[in-house]
Amino acid sequence: MKTYLVTGGAGFIGSNYINYMFKKYGNDIRIINVDVLTYAGNLENLRDVEGRDNYTFIRADICDREAIDKIFAENDIDRVVHFAAESHVDRSITNPEVFVKTNVLGTATMLNAARKAWENEDGTYKEGKKFLHVSTDEVYGSLDEDPNAFFYETTPYSPHSPYSASKASSDMLVKAYMDTYKFPANITNCSNNYGPYQFPEKLIPLIIHNALEGKKLPVYGDGKNVRDWLYVEDHAKAIDMVQEKGRLFETYNVGGHNEKQNIEIVKTIIDTLREELDDSDPRKEHLTYDLITYVTDRKGHDRRYAIAPDKIKAEIGWEPETMFKDGIKKTIKWYFENQEWMDHVTSGDYEKYYEKMYSNR
Ligand code: NAD
Ligand code: TYD
Repeated sequence: MKTYLVTGGAGFIGSNYINYMFKKYGNDIRIINVDVLTYAGNLENLRDVEGRDNYTFIRADICDREAIDKIFAENDIDRVVHFAAESHVDRSITNPEVFVKTNVLGTATMLNAARKAWENEDGTYKEGKKFLHVSTDEVYGSLDEDPNAFFYETTPYSPHSPYSASKASSDMLVKAYMDTYKFPANITNCSNNYGPYQFPEKLIPLIIHNALEGKKLPVYGDGKNVRDWLYVEDHAKAIDMVQEKGRLFETYNVGGHNEKQNIEIVKTIIDTLREELDDSDPRKEHLTYDLITYVTDRKGHDRRYAIAPDKIKAEIGWEPETMFKDGIKKTIKWYFENQEWMDHVTSGDYEKYYEKMYSNR
């Protein structure tokens, strides 16, 4: 049975990945979730897996070398899937240092701990050990509006925000470990994810939340920046497929042909929520395009991201399965039906949930 060490498993993508892996493999794998629970970590996302004998949660900081070494010493880890990071561009603009600490130093700590645990005396590695570093397409910088321009694995790095610069640095460290120590790893660079359990600081859940509260819907700049949206479960599947079928030491870009302008997304959310709300619901009257408010643009705002997922398709057979028009409806419906989750997140109640669940452990 393989043992996975997942970092950042209480966050948006990490929790979707853990839920996906248990749905796929059931009792055939073991997962240890290591998360320090920042504002973005929420164990309520993992309610469905909490009672499992083959799931363990450990609250620890990926920068804490002793704590991470101890986890490797006490468990025979086969796979690391490294999600833990500070992930929000706007926060990186106001407070860059914590991004460097978590994303760069934290990744260095994870690499070092895994290498120490896995390396044989002759510099080879124990059979079957693999590290997957989860990264972003934002490391490649920004594309112009030419619809034939895409990010490829060979595109030079050109990060602009402190977030993407810190992720680019962490990618470089992983590359350095692979080149220098033949460390068994892969990097995946993924486009913008959407789906359940995303913290409402990111565009889609923020707009859904504000729309249901009748608040203004802030659109940065002219609203025409483009992101390439990927349904989070498709990303989870890609990560698993890269670890199972990918060539070691390779980078795979994950995303694909779901490019949308921000303003289109905001309008789709309004339209879809209006369909969900009963005519008698007082929120419906106010939920119109009038809520859209153009606000000052983000500093250094990247214009367009778009991935051509040719390599992962050709080598591994992965391609996105969820059409944006279906995925966005499913996502909006999920937030609509899980307003209690949103209430807990926005009120900070999920910290109380942690106390309740873990105070005696
Ligand atoms: P998130 O902010 O929702 O979750 C991050 C998780 O990491 C949280 O649970 C947080 O508590 C944990 N964490 C933060 N600092 C930590 C530390 N020092 N030690 C231990 N745990 C810590 O992020 P996300 O959107 O789920 O992104 C996960 C990964 O995927 C990140 O590496 C991000 O760069 C990458 N990524 C995200 C997207 C996206 O659209 N969200 C796209 C491409 C790549
Ligand atoms: P975001 O979800 O923060 O992801 P990223 O910056 O990593 O792509 O933002 C997605 C896009 O939406 C980005 O172009 C910025 C824009 N945006 C808004 O227009 N308004 C908002 O309130 C937010 C959070 C983002």
